[in-house]
Amino acid sequence: MSRRLLIFLLISLVILFLLIRSISTLLLLLVENAAADAIHRTELPSPNSSLIEQRPQIIPKIIHQTYKNETIPEVWLDAQQSCIDLHPDYEYILWTDEKSREFIAAEYPWFLDTFDGYKYPIQRADSIRYFVLTYYGGTYIDLDDGCNRRLDALLAYPAWLRRTVPTGISNDAMGSVPQHPFFLRVIESLQEYDHHWLLPYITVMYSTGPLFLSVIWKDYMQDSPSETSRVRVLMPNEYKKYPWSFFTHHTGNSWHGKDAHFIFWMGQHWMFITFCGFCLAAVAGFGLFWAYRQFVLLEAQYRYRYTKDSLITSLSSSLSSSLLPRVSFKGDEEAAKTSYDLGRRDD
Ligand SMILES: *[C@@H]1O[C@H](CO)[C@@H](O)[C@H](O)[C@H]1NC(C)=O
Ligand SMILES: *[C@@H]1O[C@H](CO)[C@@H](O)[C@H](O)[C@H]1NC(C)=O
Repeated sequence: MSRRLLIFLLISLVILFLLIRSISTLLLLLVENAAADAIHRTELPSPNSSLIEQRPQIIPKIIHQTYKNETIPEVWLDAQQSCIDLHPDYEYILWTDEKSREFIAAEYPWFLDTFDGYKYPIQRADSIRYFVLTYYGGTYIDLDDGCNRRLDALLAYPAWLRRTVPTGISNDAMGSVPQHPFFLRVIESLQEYDHHWLLPYITVMYSTGPLFLSVIWKDYMQDSPSETSRVRVLMPNEYKKYPWSFFTHHTGNSWHGKDAHFIFWMGQHWMFITFCGFCLAAVAGFGLFWAYRQFVLLEAQYRYRYTKDSLITSLSSSLSSSLLPRVSFKGDEEAAKTSYDLGRRDD
């Protein structure tokens, strides 16, 4: 076996291994139903129950939200107000772009370059929520989520995330005590996941968004965390739609355009879209592989054509003329000569 072929096989094996390893978490994620960590309806006291007071409240009474500046669009004012009205005793912090950057610069300076370097503003909006939950603890709520009941019952868990259908978890509502090991791992992983993928949507999803968070969560669960480091999961029925759910969705009047529909559609089908993105990336990868193989074959063709052994010459030329398009270019003779020389040196 020639050395080149060996090196090529080795590289292919390594790439295949990395691909399977990185996709294995994604595949496992598809079949993860979070049942082991679900917050069961039966363990949650009903909205005005006196049992809520008897549960420990370990998550700090802070509500975090993000927007680019202090001027929150009218469509979300109702949602925001519903949370503030229900929690007059909670501290409320709105993280604007300016405030977020100052916070990262002061408390997590090692992350500032990555934070500033993010191509899409939503990546900053995603990542800042992980940092403030790690630092202060509290509950993060997206601006378009309104509150349906007080969050007190959820303060009993060291950390909780929200389950999305059909798979994975989201980052639009979540709570944590300060310095929780899960969120520590999340902020430590951000730099490693700061990659560009083919599409902006995939890039955002997989660098800071729900897919990123889901993958870290799935990996984290495989280490069987102890009771205090466990991450509990709020199931869809407790999240929205029912009288006992914690949140409501405020879509607002100006959200009726085609764009808005498309964005909502993407939000609801993020796993599907992400899957398509990965398929696209795989096709592109195979395309590259095919091009590389063609190149290797082409080179081999040149090497054999000028080898003294006439049997191989006739064999390979008949093979290659049937398999490969004929490529001829200026300086054909010279290129051939060079690869002939190279070939000899190799053999
Ligand atoms: C809980 O109490 C509040 C205020 O007293 C009330 O407005 C709300 O309807 C009650 N919710 C339920 C589910 O009983
Ligand atoms: C916030 O941003 C909006 C939209 O870009 C702008 O209209 C508004 O004036 C800004 N508010 C402040 C306080 O800068």
